[in-house]
Amino acid sequence: MKPKFPQEHFMRRAFELALHGQGYASPNPMVGCVVVWQQGLIIGEGFHHRYGQPHAEVNAIHSVLAPNAATEALSRITGKSPQELLRESTLYVSLEPCSHYGKQPPCALKIIETGIPRVVVSCPDPNPAVNGKGIAMLREAGVEVTEHFLEAEGWEMGRRFFTNVQKKRPYIILKWAQSADGFIAAQKGLRTQITGAVLQALNHSYRAQEDAIMVGTNTILADNPCLDARMYHGNQPLRISFDLHGRLRAYRQQLEQEGAPNLHFLDGSIKSFLFVHEADKEHYAAWQTENLEICPISVPGTLAACMQELHNRKIGSLIVEGGTELLQSFIREGLWDEIRVFRSCRNLGSGYPAPVLPAATRVKSEEYSGETIDIYRNIPGNTGHE
Ligand SMILES: NC(=O)c1ccc[n+]([C@@H]2O[C@H](COP(=O)([O-])OP(=O)(O)OC[C@H]3O[C@@H](n4cnc5c(N)ncnc54)[C@H](OP(=O)(O)O)[C@@H]3O)[C@@H](O)[C@H]2O)c1
Repeated sequence: MKPKFPQEHFMRRAFELALHGQGYASPNPMVGCVVVWQQGLIIGEGFHHRYGQPHAEVNAIHSVLAPNAATEALSRITGKSPQELLRESTLYVSLEPCSHYGKQPPCALKIIETGIPRVVVSCPDPNPAVNGKGIAMLREAGVEVTEHFLEAEGWEMGRRFFTNVQKKRPYIILKWAQSADGFIAAQKGLRTQITGAVLQALNHSYRAQEDAIMVGTNTILADNPCLDARMYHGNQPLRISFDLHGRLRAYRQQLEQEGAPNLHFLDGSIKSFLFVHEADKEHYAAWQTENLEICPISVPGTLAACMQELHNRKIGSLIVEGGTELLQSFIREGLWDEIRVFRSCRNLGSGYPAPVLPAATRVKSEEYSGETIDIYRNIPGNTGHE
């Protein structure tokens, strides 16, 4: 019997659940799953909590089998065990169930063993290890499968993972704050607070959603930023920067001679990652600690090579927070998926210009006490700003 409630309702609940894994599931995808008994009673829910831990489908099935008030009451009323209830249910899942043995056994097999007769899937899994095999496995076992259900919404929710698999690089978000008249600082090299506390707190929540946060060498030297998510309770991203011409090294030496505190980026308080020139790598041998990884690159300035290194290290998403030179390099190389511009309502009058926004589609604009966040996407066929 098919559920009598709109099936969209159950899939959207699966999307909602998936988002609980944001900041923790990567480099695995965020996935949510709902088990619906007969005509529309949700009897189980699950999501993928953390990389390496059980997948959403397994968590949802276990939530039915583990004693819970809803299934106990239903079992009392119907006289059916949780196992029997599962055999009369539909499973809604935001991503194709896996078919291979990775860190966890295949979810498709778990569904088959449980006897769930119907599965509704939003997005196929482009990972070559799955890529249709999960659905084929279910169908071969006699499970009725509906595919591509609310696929556009599912893709949106899982866009970081899909970008990793398809483009073999992290999902890249460019972010900057600019004054109403288009400056990111009162002058180049001068730390300038552009937006207020509300947007700052919001930015910390954005940081907590991503695997890593990157800034250019000048920003480290000018702003000495902490690059943490202290105003939000969540995941702390890895910090990434560059020292391709030894300027951080020289400045650190100077600070040591003066007995001054180290730069926050190099203080070892948060896991950090520094790209250096291959030819200089021996100068950084003493810098390498548990919380500071030195990564030599042979083609400095090529962001594509850096993105490849991050992809190899399973960094699924990156938020690049300036300054203008670094952001403009990402834009020039076409290496971006999303741009977030924090716009202040104040003019600076003069200053250091913000990056030039490329052709992009504005997908969202939110206002907070007179300040605005505009979100743009790099959608193929972009011809101008919307
Ligand atoms: N309002 C905001 O949102 C915001 C955010 C951040 C910073 N800022 C401000 O922006 C100013 C700093 O920005 P900036 O434009 O001067 O510098 P930046 O983008 O922070 O740093 C640029 C430097 O990073 C290094 N780098 C390494 N790889 C690079 C690449 N592929 N492309 C570009 N640079 C690369 C280069 O240093 P080497 O030459 O040593 O290799 C380059 O000179 C400061 O005043 C800061 O306060 C504002």
